[in-house]
Amino acid sequence: MTRRFPFPHDGRPDQAIRDAYEADGFLVLEGFASRETCAALRQRVRDLIDGFDPESVRSVFSTTDQAHARDRYFRESGDEIRFFFEAQAFGTDGRLVRDKQGAINKIGHALHDLDPVFAPFSHDPRLGRLAEGLGLADPGLVQSMVIAKPAFIGGEVGMHQDATFLYTEPSTVTGFWIALEEATAENGCLFAPPGGHRTTLRERFHYRGGDLVKTTLDPAPLEDEVGVALEAPEGTLVVLHGLLPHRSGPNTSPRSRLAYALHAVDRAAGWAPDNWLRRRADMPVRGFDG
Ligand code: FE2
Repeated sequence: MTRRFPFPHDGRPDQAIRDAYEADGFLVLEGFASRETCAALRQRVRDLIDGFDPESVRSVFSTTDQAHARDRYFRESGDEIRFFFEAQAFGTDGRLVRDKQGAINKIGHALHDLDPVFAPFSHDPRLGRLAEGLGLADPGLVQSMVIAKPAFIGGEVGMHQDATFLYTEPSTVTGFWIALEEATAENGCLFAPPGGHRTTLRERFHYRGGDLVKTTLDPAPLEDEVGVALEAPEGTLVVLHGLLPHRSGPNTSPRSRLAYALHAVDRAAGWAPDNWLRRRADMPVRGFDG
């Protein structure tokens, strides 16, 4: 049974929460976002997708296929709000085979700066106090994603470490994953091995010259075990250490599993200039209360 805690009143983690994070590399904090907030965010996702013309882009984002890495649409999404489809959303003729509301894999990666609903939700001083209590001296929000995991065709995300994608020296990236709908083992919740963060970073996804590449840092297999299910009622915040291996299964169930993920790094650490994520100069990284 996974340890879980009520989200602390003002965000400040008590000793028991800090000890659990240090031991497990993750936290399951229930009651972070209210039912009303989750409903408003789900409506905002529907509105964003309504306003998006799928014909304007044919980028299929699949984490089991690195072909997207060469896709400019993805590369240049670090300071935009862009839409990525499920791999199974298209027929062999390249046309969408389902309504776009049920075909989106993710929306990213700067909702926390640009979206009038997600930006204020992201810049929550409670999250800043939590991040600082967990060891980020000067947390800065670098990335945000709506992760849709739609019913029937939601794709799996293989075991990975977030520090692969957002690297600082030393590693500080921390994930703040919020269940906007209940996440269970049936509809594609997160899985992670408790204590799995006490390990090396296996690979980096970064620019080399003009190309995005994956470089192996340590060839040891990431995890042989599958991890424990981090099941999360609606409104739950799951915190993920940047070195913690984690994955999520496919969603073949009839229930969608909408989540919102924020990634913060410590601005006191060195941001690797070859990270995939780029932001224009007039969009500096802001803190949770900035
Ligand atoms: Fe991740």
